[in-house]
Amino acid sequence: MSASVNIALVIGSLRKESINRKFAEYIVSQMPDSVTIKEVHIADLPLYNQDYDDKTIESYERVRQQLKNADAVLIVTPEHNRTMPAALKNVVDIGSRPYKKSVWTHKKVAVVTASPGSFGGINSGLDVRKSMQMLSVQLMVDPEIHLSRATDSLNEDGSVSARTQKFLQGFVTDFVQFAGKSGG
Ligand SMILES: Cc1cc2nc3c(=O)[nH]c(=O)nc-3n(C[C@H](O)[C@H](O)[C@H](O)COP(=O)(O)O)c2cc1C
Repeated sequence: MSASVNIALVIGSLRKESINRKFAEYIVSQMPDSVTIKEVHIADLPLYNQDYDDKTIESYERVRQQLKNADAVLIVTPEHNRTMPAALKNVVDIGSRPYKKSVWTHKKVAVVTASPGSFGGINSGLDVRKSMQMLSVQLMVDPEIHLSRATDSLNEDGSVSARTQKFLQGFVTDFVQFAGKSGG
């Protein structure tokens, strides 16, 4: 691949010891040099309020600009009560407004979920996809990554197990190809 690719990374967990952050960090470590990846920090974002649409909220402008500048967005997220965490939904909403100024339109987006449970956070992933579909993004549909029993895929020092590393390396190859593709 020749041209550089800009990726925005959104991590749905605000937790310091987040397992999703650990998998995201591994994914980032496997990206080729042609990829620039920047995290979109979501912890400080005020809860979206439509009254803010005609105001300048600095943190809103920051994340909107970051998402806008990215060739693709990678979301790595847990599941909270069978859906995406509120902090993640908040940035989805912030990016989608003001009306007709959504930064999500035609954006390439991939979703990875991880959970200690046996369903791997799939409901969170499906709900992210549902919102993204409504926002006219280009969703990466294959492969779908939902890491179940995900704490078993982490070594004691928090590093990703060899087996899951191999699995995620395949995802990185596919994702970089998807992100670098021009047009839709
Ligand atoms: C409020 C809350 C709701 C949760 N609901 C679910 C759930 O619906 N499905 C699931 O698989 N895990 C659920 N969990 C457990 C999370 O998967 C687990 O805490 C996981 O470690 C969160 O990811 P993180 O480590 O990246 O923060 C929930 C956790 C919290 C705090």
